[in-house]
Amino acid sequence: MLLIKGVFLTFYIMEIIFENESPHHAFSLLSSLIVPRPIAWVTSVNLEGKINAAPYSLFNLLGVQPPILGLCPENYKSGLPKDTARNIRDTHEFVVNLVDEESAQAMNITSAALPYGENELELANVETLPSSIVKPPRIAQAPASLECLEWGTLQIGENRLIIGLIKRLHVRDEYYDSKNNHIKSASLKMIGRMAPPNTYCRTMDRFTMIKPEE
Ligand SMILES: Cc1cc2nc3c(=O)[nH]c(=O)nc-3n(C[C@H](O)[C@H](O)[C@H](O)COP(=O)(O)O)c2cc1C
Repeated sequence: MLLIKGVFLTFYIMEIIFENESPHHAFSLLSSLIVPRPIAWVTSVNLEGKINAAPYSLFNLLGVQPPILGLCPENYKSGLPKDTARNIRDTHEFVVNLVDEESAQAMNITSAALPYGENELELANVETLPSSIVKPPRIAQAPASLECLEWGTLQIGENRLIIGLIKRLHVRDEYYDSKNNHIKSASLKMIGRMAPPNTYCRTMDRFTMIKPEE
């Protein structure tokens, strides 16, 4: 522990050396701090066309030229890839559905580890709509859905980072201002994941701050 004595502040700082930490503890520490994390509610299909759904919060937008996102499905304890990872490896397509307060419970239900090929959306009574260019359907109640093609998957140690090219955006009319072509972000009630395993946040407490000239 390091004691910091500044002019205005006195406090101690703990330093964690990750080489000495188990992956489990590293996850507990980092996922409590790097918050809130958006949640990708991913729909995919296997080679037989069977639908799968699961939430992933090791997820974010990575760039826009072209639009890309990243998500990290781990392996199950058995060492086998989670169904989402397996389906994307086999079919190279998926849909990221975004999660608002209304869908929180249903999203959580679909995190159940059902046997491969079983559809978690049926368990959660969630309806789907066909996608435009990929086989996996999108989730009807999601405020927005992103149709993605797998650009590639990076294996970094035991981490699997799936990079998706975002090819289509579907957004519910109530959240889209077609006159000005923008998202009505003030009315979106997205949720975020906080410290695992059970903490989430709402995103309706907002403030504005004018950014300096770039
Ligand atoms: C909000 C939330 C976020 C999650 N994020 C991840 C994640 O980023 N990576 C991961 O491997 N598992 C994550 N999980 C756990 C998976 O959803 C869970 O293992 C699920 O059974 C995987 O399903 P699948 O095998 O159908 O893909 C998360 C669970 C919840 C509830």
